[in-house]
This record gives sequence, structure tokens and C-alpha cells, in this order.
Amino acid sequence: QRISALRGMPDILPDEIKKWRHAEDAARTLFRQHGYEEIRTPLLEETALFNRSIGEETDIVQKQMYSFLDRGQREVSLRPEGTAPIARAYIEHGLGRAQETVKLYYIGPMFRNERPQAGRLRQFHQIGAEAMGSDSPYLDAEIISLMMRIITDCGLSDAELKINCLGCRKDKETFQQVLKTALSGQEINRLCEDCRKRYDRNILRVFDCKNEACRMALRSMPKVIDYLCPDCAARFDEVKTALELTGVKYTLFPFLVRGLDYYTGPVFEVSHKNLGSQDAVAAGGRYGDLILDLGGDRTPACGFAIGMERLLMAAPDKIGQGAGRQEIFVIALGSQARKKAFEVLNRLRNKGMSCQMAFDEKSLKSQMRFADKAGARKVLILGDTELKKGVAILRDMEQKQQKEISLDDVEDTHLW
Ligand code: HAM
Repeated sequence: QRISALRGMPDILPDEIKKWRHAEDAARTLFRQHGYEEIRTPLLEETALFNRSIGEETDIVQKQMYSFLDRGQREVSLRPEGTAPIARAYIEHGLGRAQETVKLYYIGPMFRNERPQAGRLRQFHQIGAEAMGSDSPYLDAEIISLMMRIITDCGLSDAELKINCLGCRKDKETFQQVLKTALSGQEINRLCEDCRKRYDRNILRVFDCKNEACRMALRSMPKVIDYLCPDCAARFDEVKTALELTGVKYTLFPFLVRGLDYYTGPVFEVSHKNLGSQDAVAAGGRYGDLILDLGGDRTPACGFAIGMERLLMAAPDKIGQGAGRQEIFVIALGSQARKKAFEVLNRLRNKGMSCQMAFDEKSLKSQMRFADKAGARKVLILGDTELKKGVAILRDMEQKQQKEISLDDVEDTHLW
């Protein structure tokens, strides 16, 4: 019986890779420009890392982690996200000792055992950044504008940025109490069964509910932004002012709470109209207590992650299409000519040219089709007649012209 890839864990085929490379290259260029360095953490971590950071009562920890006992009976999980592993690495290697503000980025796969649908996978990829060590509102603005630049560079100029502020841990606790009071009595009966469970376990999660009746009911509920302490409220104003200086447009969305518990302070999410129900392309925010909670020193930090599959679903088809074109395609007709052509191919490759040839005996027409598909700008044709004369036919695929060139001069491409 044939074995297929696991559901929700698709292959990414060569035809799609151009778009992926475009996004990755654009991100790497922008990260470099903004002073972010790459970090690569393992795919597998101790399960406790995610339980303690993302939160025991979140959907990710409750239902979505690929967790198992390894052969040493250790509880391990495939990483569902990148922030907690990076916070762990920051503490473990004392990264904050060398530099006041540590600015890191990552590109790689994450794993969540969700029900697969368009834009929701079990293995998906994120481009993310985490900046640790500064409480400056300019850092929040830098993180957000950097994320928006990557998204825009991938052709999504009309992505929508929503921001909100959850306040410090104390503000979050106050608001949870306020919300509990507001939802007690009759109000709770207007919510779905899941939300009623959330009421006891993790009340902020009710704002993530997709149920229309719940959404309606929650619209009249208190807003977290109205319960911020003076310090958090003032700081949020500074973040908005700094963000305006970057030129990034945003809307204030008072019901944005995020599905991970580690956030405190400003949070944000980016959505795009080309996506269906899974319309969040990217998200992030401040997590001032996470490093302390994981056993490090109190360290202000913030970051974002872009979901690559969703980014590329919403991106125009043309992105990355120019990339990876073959410069030269060598066509041989007959076994003698193929021998010479293979030598020429290698001489060109040794010169750093991007070129290939078809190794099997095929007609000129079919080899030309192959060259076309590879996007070759030039084609070198070698048959027995050319071989005898010591030449090859050089065809310019764009100009649709051809001429003979000597095989001795074939590497002097400036003569072409
Ligand atoms: P998140 O909102 O869980 O945040 O994920 C960020 C993005 O990853 C989402 O907006 C979405 O585009 C993509 N994503 C999440 N789950 C899936 C899935 N099952 N299939 C496809 N794409 C998905 C985080 O992961 C935080 N670590 C972000 C962050 C970084 N906060 C601070 N620093």
C-alpha cells in the first residue's frame, strides 16, 4: 500500500518554493536592515516549557500539542510556537549579558494538532522575531513596523493591523474579575457551552469565540483598555505615537486578547481579506513576565510571528516568479555531441554560470520545450554538424535570434 504524507502536513513542491524563497529572502534582508540576528532552536522541547509559558488553560496546551514520552520517559513536545523556546535559550545562554537589547529572528516549522482546513495546518511555518531587554515603546513600534514591512514586501499592501493593550499582570487580573462580574447571572446564558467553560478556566478566551451569538453578547461587555493602570495606559499611548512615526496604519480593536497567556501590555494581530475564516496572517505583542516566569531575570520583551502559509495564500501569484531562472540550457543531438556538450556544460558551471542540459536522447523540439520551462535566457545547441566545425549554435530566447560561436570561446560569455 502507498504511504501518503500526514493530514495537515503537506509537502511544499518545487513549483511553490519560489514564493517561499521570496518571503524568506525578503524577511532576511529586512531583519538584517533592522539589526536582528538569526537563532535556531530545536523542534523538540520539554513539554513543561510550553505549559508554563503559553498557559495550562489555553487551547494550544489543552488540545493542540504533539506531546509524548521519549525513550527516556521524558515528557517532550514538538514546538507549537517560537517565543517560549527563544525565551528559554535567552536564559540558558545568558544572551542578555553580552548585549542590552537582544534582537533575534527565526524562520521554521511549528506543530499544532488542530483540525486541518484552508490556512490551518498541523505543520505550518512562521517567520518571527523576538526583541528582549528593552521596555522602550520604540521597540514595540519597530517590531510592528518590521512585521508590516515583511508582509508588504510579499505583496500584501492591504493587510489590516489591529492593536490593543492587555496591561500588566495586575491589570489583566483586575479585568478578568470585572468580566466575570459582568458575565455572571443571566449574561452567561447568552454564551455557548465552550464559553461557559472558559468562564471558569480562562475567561479572556471568550473573546476568541467564533460563535456569532457570543460575539454579539460580548460587544456590550467591558473593554480591557478601560481598566489599564495609569502607567500601562500612558505607555500604550507612547507606543501608538511611536507607531505613527513609522507610518504604519492601525485600528484599535478593544476585543483582541490573543490565545497565549504570556502577553502583557500591547498586543496586535494582522488580518487579510483574501483569507477565509483563518484570516490572521501574523500576530504578537509584549510579554514582560515570561522570562521571569521561566526562571530568568525580569526582562521586558516583545515579538511577532507571521504564518507563512497564510501569507503566501494571500500573496499574489507573481511573487518570486522571476527567481531561479536558468541562464543557459545546453541541447545535444546525438551521443558524440552529448559528450562534448557535457564537457561544455561543466566548463560553464566551473565559471559559475547557472546551466543545465537534458541527458536523455530527445528531439530538438522536446529539448527546446524543456529549456523554455526552465526559463533559459540562452540555449546552446550542439549537433554532429556543429561538432565537426568546432562550433555551437547560440540562441537568444528573448530576442529570438541565433548565431554560431566557437566551442573554444564558449566560456567567454561576454562575447555572446
Ligand atoms: P499565534 O497567533 O499563535 O502567535 O501564531 C502566529 C501566526 O501563525 C498566526 O497569525 C497564523 O498566521 C499562524 N498560525 C498559527 N497557527 C497556525 C496553523 N495551525 N496553521 C497555519 N498557520 C498558523 C504565536 O505563535 C506567537 N509566538 C507570536 C509571538 C511572537 N508573540 C510574541 N512573539
